[in-house]
Amino acid sequence: MARMTKRVRKAVFPVAGLGTRFLPATKAVPKEMLTVVDRPVIQHVVDEAKAAGIEHFIFVTGRNKAPIEDHFDSQYELERTLSERGKSEELAALMADLPRPGQTSFTRQQAPHGLGHAVWCAREIVGDEPFALLLPDMLHFGPRPCLCDMMEAYALHGGNHIAVAPVPADQTHLYGIVGVEDKTAKVSRVTGMVEKPKPADAPSNLHISGRYILQPDIFAILERGERGAGGEIQVTDAMKNLALSQPFFAVRFDGTIYDCGAKIGFLLANVAYGLARKELAPTLRCELARLLDT
Ligand code: UTP
Repeated sequence: MARMTKRVRKAVFPVAGLGTRFLPATKAVPKEMLTVVDRPVIQHVVDEAKAAGIEHFIFVTGRNKAPIEDHFDSQYELERTLSERGKSEELAALMADLPRPGQTSFTRQQAPHGLGHAVWCAREIVGDEPFALLLPDMLHFGPRPCLCDMMEAYALHGGNHIAVAPVPADQTHLYGIVGVEDKTAKVSRVTGMVEKPKPADAPSNLHISGRYILQPDIFAILERGERGAGGEIQVTDAMKNLALSQPFFAVRFDGTIYDCGAKIGFLLANVAYGLARKELAPTLRCELARLLDT
């Protein structure tokens, strides 16, 4: 039965990580600004949030992340040059991506104490309302933006929501895994969360894929600063704690997830997103076939 829920208006994007797996590319360029086809990874994820109705975009940044802030600002000289040269299509595309004044907030995580700590850094801007959390590394590529499915599930059930997707059963030790009441349902109540379980101990093969809708009560738990795996403050630990008093639901994503924080995921994302573009697909397909043949 549908019940009253506070609307989710804000989304948090933690972008303060060091991106060491992508060095030297990420020495001077934030990994979130690496491009998948012609859009920075972070823009793809903001697009998903926009499609789901998010109105306020909160970026938790760190040192050397200024290009992200610049990317979401207007670029007066560029806009004027495009206009003078009659490049109206390019200009319109640029303007369509530009957030409206006041729609973005940037705060800094002063040291990389972990994802949970990065989320906690957004507490004053989020305030006392539910919010979406999107990990920019994880591109969700599918028939429908993942966060749209989650918003629908949230409107119906309230509480907290985690996007999940299946992984091969022998790879559960690489992921945060959830146990669910019904493994085949699109939306199911979460019965447990385990960080990187051995296949024999895993309650399912559904991994936490980097999209969340969380109640603001998570901040009081993160505030305690309890350290988990790797000595870092972990979101999964805080969620486990919150699950003692609030419902959590898993929303299954029907698509492919590319982990753009890892080289292979990033390369595959470029191929998949390239093949989805009408103007690029025929040539890309031919060239890939040629490369694979030689
Ligand atoms: P990762 O651990 O994948 O990012 O965190 P990383 O630390 O940048 O990557 P590597 O391992 O060194 O290559 C997942 C997300 O959480 C953010 C990262 O920016 C990334 O988007 N994050 C992580 C923070 O914002 N702060 C942190 O302290 C840790």
